[in-house]
Amino acid sequence: MKDILQALEAQREEARLGGGAKRIEAQHSKGKLTARERIELLLDEGSFEEYDMFVTHRCTDFGMEESKPRGDGVVTGWGTINGRMVYVFSQDFTVLGGSVSETHAAKICKIMDMALQNGAPVIGINDSGGARIQEGVSSLAAYGEIFERNIVASGVVPQISMIMGPCAGGAVYSPAMTDFIFMVQDSSYMFVTGPDVVKTVTNEIVTAEELGGASTHTKKSSVADAAFENDVEALSEIRRLFDFLPLSNRDKAPVRPFFDDPDRLEPSLDTLVPDNPNTPYDMKELILKVADEGDFYELQADFARNIITGFIRIEGQTVGVVANQPMVLAGVLDIDSSRKAARFVRFCDAFEIPILTFVDVPGFLPGTAQEYGGVIKHGAKLLFAYGEATVPKVTVITRKAYGGAYVVMSSKHLGGDVNYAWPTAEVAVMGAKGAVEILYRSELGDPEKIAARTKGYEDAFANPFVAAERGFIDEVIQPRSTRRRVARAFAMLRRKRIERPWKKHDNIPL
Ligand code: HXC
Repeated sequence: MKDILQALEAQREEARLGGGAKRIEAQHSKGKLTARERIELLLDEGSFEEYDMFVTHRCTDFGMEESKPRGDGVVTGWGTINGRMVYVFSQDFTVLGGSVSETHAAKICKIMDMALQNGAPVIGINDSGGARIQEGVSSLAAYGEIFERNIVASGVVPQISMIMGPCAGGAVYSPAMTDFIFMVQDSSYMFVTGPDVVKTVTNEIVTAEELGGASTHTKKSSVADAAFENDVEALSEIRRLFDFLPLSNRDKAPVRPFFDDPDRLEPSLDTLVPDNPNTPYDMKELILKVADEGDFYELQADFARNIITGFIRIEGQTVGVVANQPMVLAGVLDIDSSRKAARFVRFCDAFEIPILTFVDVPGFLPGTAQEYGGVIKHGAKLLFAYGEATVPKVTVITRKAYGGAYVVMSSKHLGGDVNYAWPTAEVAVMGAKGAVEILYRSELGDPEKIAARTKGYEDAFANPFVAAERGFIDEVIQPRSTRRRVARAFAMLRRKRIERPWKKHDNIPL
């Protein structure tokens, strides 16, 4: 008996070594942790239950039968993050470059099926050379099996992708279908075709980092939601994000003990909006002052900075925040900001996370670049996402809410449940200058007349009361009391239910 136990331990030890000491050293020398070290940092100590440690590939081509590393290049199982269950796969670059074979993919599919059945998120740590070249089409088919599960799991359990090494070719499409993608600076990249192919096809000379590094995907393409300095920071930040999320669409997000008075007044907010309507101010200040303990988990912070998205807690409960940012492009809605916010709103709605919207928006960005780029379709994404969301929606207009953008930004007309405005709010078809130029074109040569017209328009429309008279604004509130009013609104909405007509699914303007 003792011998059998020792033999088991020896086999486990061999599996744990992955591609061996030399390749582990090479991994470390690139500033990367190994697949197992990453799992250790991600999960609560001692919580990891590993499956399929003894799985090996079945390939006999290209001399592959000579080497059958245990585990086949991916470590899979489940564990806990602050006591809450999560399924994990972590690709082991030290074993055949973490490449995806039939059996490697089957291991991933197994835990994805378990996650769906048992209602817990999946975190995938990607560090792979892509399809296992020796297995040819079998490996492509295996990717397809993973893709299908990503799709079925979408909206059922949260899926998070950590890109911690190469992720290239069709392999990028599994992370692309998950809810969040995080990268590590200088050691991860994602692209459909690498620099060599790009050079051959388009004559462009570009490095892997420029083509698909963390900076590219967080600032230019918006494929990634955030990038971190190293593996350790990335994994600890994902633990922080995980605490905001529900385990599945059947669960509520966890309620955290809070030590921040929901009635806390913030007198400084009374002067947040400057006297001059064209002077910017930082909307993040409002978010931080409303959030429990000023804790804000921002997503896509470096992309479309004219809109802010992320999670806060109010009375310990997770709330998704969408806010126009007057500091960038005056907080205008454009293609990028509409897409960014729409995807976030849909995530919140799929997982029953209430949405808080702060509005200061001068409208949609005009111009050929926007029209040619399809701002109509992209703007409609945000409109559609807000309108279809049935979660509690609380909106606060701090300053401008002009035109179509007013309607889009979680207005009463799109099912906003509680819509507040600060006294500084201006709910109107457009700003005074634009309106006067259209209505009084014949007087444009007379600055005095135009100034009087502008003043008249401002007095009549640059306020929240016209909208409040019609019930489009539920209440005009003191800025200092925003946290209290918002907390009470969400408390009131906790049992909200909305029935919608049956349909297979909607047809959001993709
Ligand atoms: C089998 C692979 C592999 C792969 C790497 N290896 N990629 N084995 N299939 N796809 C092996 C290498 O042979 C090597 O083995 C070890 O992993 C480490 O690789 P290195 O090249 O030494 O590492 P590095 O220099 O860091 O380069 C990493 C790399 C490079 C850039 C990822 O390995 C590479 O370009 N690989 C091929 C990428 C690729 O074209 N994949 C197919 C993409 S198409 P030894 O034994 O020497 O340690 C695709 C389609 C998916 O993925 C479709 C889904 C629908």
